[in-house]
Amino acid sequence: MQFDHILKNGQVALPDSQQKFGIRFETTDIGLLDGKIAEIGSLSSAGADQTTDCTGLHVFPGAIDSQVHFREPGLEHKEDLATGTLAALKGGITCVFEMPNTKPSTTNKEAFEEKIRRGQEKANCHFGFFIGASPDNIAQLPELEKLPGCVGVKIFMGSSTGSLLVEKDEDLEKILKSGTRRVAVHCEDEFRLRERKSVIVEKDTGTHPLWRDEQTAILATERLLRLSEKTGRPVHVLHVTTKQEMELLQQAKAKNIPCTVECTPQHLTLFAPDCYDRLGSFAQMNPPIRTADHKEGLWQAVQNGVVNVFGSDHAPHTLEEKNKPYPQSPSGMPGVQTMLPLLLNHSHNGLLSLEQLCAMLTSRPAKLYGLKNKGEIIKGNDADFTIIDTRAEKTIEEPWLASRCGWSPFTNEKVTGWPVGVFLNGQKALWQDEVLLTHHGKMCEFEH
Ligand code: DOR
Repeated sequence: MQFDHILKNGQVALPDSQQKFGIRFETTDIGLLDGKIAEIGSLSSAGADQTTDCTGLHVFPGAIDSQVHFREPGLEHKEDLATGTLAALKGGITCVFEMPNTKPSTTNKEAFEEKIRRGQEKANCHFGFFIGASPDNIAQLPELEKLPGCVGVKIFMGSSTGSLLVEKDEDLEKILKSGTRRVAVHCEDEFRLRERKSVIVEKDTGTHPLWRDEQTAILATERLLRLSEKTGRPVHVLHVTTKQEMELLQQAKAKNIPCTVECTPQHLTLFAPDCYDRLGSFAQMNPPIRTADHKEGLWQAVQNGVVNVFGSDHAPHTLEEKNKPYPQSPSGMPGVQTMLPLLLNHSHNGLLSLEQLCAMLTSRPAKLYGLKNKGEIIKGNDADFTIIDTRAEKTIEEPWLASRCGWSPFTNEKVTGWPVGVFLNGQKALWQDEVLLTHHGKMCEFEH
């Protein structure tokens, strides 16, 4: 048998339903043909146009970042689909699910298809887009969520960057009853946010988590879970930040309420007040980075299985914007490029196994949103891979960053574990920090 490419002797993440995280690493070869996984097993006697020696490296299915904000159209001075997907590629991410708070918001067919068109032209990794829910497009959502390339529906219960907002239970319930696909939700209670504005102290970013306090997040998550139970609609709670919400979510799962949970690397790494002292408004995001006891609570929820997936919530703003005095400084930080290095480092430090990390960035997000032909290394799936050196010792440095915003809260962070290679549809797109292939991203397909 002749292949286009053979990945030789890697520790390959194979699906195994007997294992806790559904994954077993096995040293083997993978044969790639026509952009697909054609064979898995010893291929020492097979021929190939190209071979990549993966000895000592781990081969993951292509890693998925299921929450990014890439700002195109309308806010390209912060990021666009080319720079955002390049940052993804350099960080070992093969596939991104992008959020609708662009300008205009992605809330109708025209805006959605325009984004797809732009992605097809310039994306450096694969992509899908969320459709934004608003009180004005509820009746159209069942159609909109089925558009090719649509990941699911996104709701902002509290206002953040952009104008998308669904604050009332009445509208939330209508949205949950309007369609079937998973709804990803930013859970902060808008009414409480409005009431508490007086808590903000000018020029003191440390007051950000006091204004947007624990109760703001807990209230919204409680309301959402009640409505999910009532309507039976699957909901995905994005960037959970409090230990109390994790308890609520654990109880909801035990009651079979169809909810899933995301945690970000920044909420698992940074903590208050240290982050605000060191980084000021560069640590400002919604929902906020909280105290160390919440960080510990989030890690417990990762370890006891309440958290389904990691997502970066990559939300770039320019240095100039971030340097404005709080609260004029916008909320959000970049993260698509640093997610995998940070999590690999946490895994190196014993906080989670490589199998769990792999599942939470590959098979889990793929299943959650019905992503077709990706997420597992099985014959016939797309030949997308993220290749990892778990022993590489590196420092996150500014020149490595590809996001247009040009900064990261994690520069000068030393990590052990690095994404050294990326394959997209059978082609080597990244090797040892060198980008080999651009504009090779394709629109993702979903089952619904
Ligand atoms: O801090 C945030 N920034 N949280 C969000 O939910 C949106 C994001 C952005 O788009 O800037």
